[in-house]
Amino acid sequence: MSGRLRIIGLGPGPASWLTPEAGEALAEASDILGYAPYVARHKASSHQRLHPSDNRVEAERAAHALQLAASGHDVALVSGGDPGVFAMAAALVEALEALPLEARDIDISILPGVTAVLAAAARLGAPLGGDFCVMSLSDNLKPWKVIKNRLDAANAGDFVLALYNPASKARPRQIFEAFDILRAGRAPATPVAFARAIGRDDERILRCSLADADPAEADMSTLVLIGASHSRWVARPHGEPFLLTPRAVQVRP
Ligand SMILES: C[S@@+](CC[C@H](N)C(=O)[O-])C[C@H]1O[C@@H](n2cnc3c(N)ncnc32)[C@H](O)[C@@H]1O
Repeated sequence: MSGRLRIIGLGPGPASWLTPEAGEALAEASDILGYAPYVARHKASSHQRLHPSDNRVEAERAAHALQLAASGHDVALVSGGDPGVFAMAAALVEALEALPLEARDIDISILPGVTAVLAAAARLGAPLGGDFCVMSLSDNLKPWKVIKNRLDAANAGDFVLALYNPASKARPRQIFEAFDILRAGRAPATPVAFARAIGRDDERILRCSLADADPAEADMSTLVLIGASHSRWVARPHGEPFLLTPRAVQVRP
């Protein structure tokens, strides 16, 4: 009997940001696999088996999910945010690729979720109105040299830049080096936001300029957003200013 496997994005935090499609798939699943804090977000019913695991065992988790689906289970593999953004969809497709072609005939679908940059952008205003790029600052899976080159390229392209995985206890210093590169290529007044734990009880947003930004504000729950040259803060009589990146770009003659 063949089961199915759905790779589900839980969104950045609150249940209200879980899509109805993802909610239904979670309720129907017989087995739920994922990094332990994500699995813990789900209130399991009595027919469901939970398989929480550590965040460093993505390949093993993906292989386990495939094996359960191939043996008839209705499997939900969960990720925070969107499963395709620095998350389990890539690990799963790599695990599938490692199987012989005839063993890949498993019913698999990927259900999108609200990724952190979109949740942070919604809180901040309209920072993604122009072209933007998204990077993970983690060098666990790619060399730091590649990350530095890409930061330079983002400067050269004048992209709004969103940094995922900016810092962790094991990687506290790289965000400082990243800011050195950003400051070398962007104006001191460039808007910067540290958007932490968006949508959760401990949400905190810090708005500043590139000159004033303290990279130590970033931790593993933070999304760091750096504006392009035409991004700016728009003051309001009450409440925080909106961050705006206009859709139109003016080129000086
Ligand atoms: C391994 S990545 C996973 C991203 C996730 N798949 C997504 O689409 O948002 C983890 C990083 O996402 C960002 N992140 C996830 N949830 C967040 C939230 N609620 N607020 C701010 N940043 C968040 C942080 O930069 C964190 O280090």
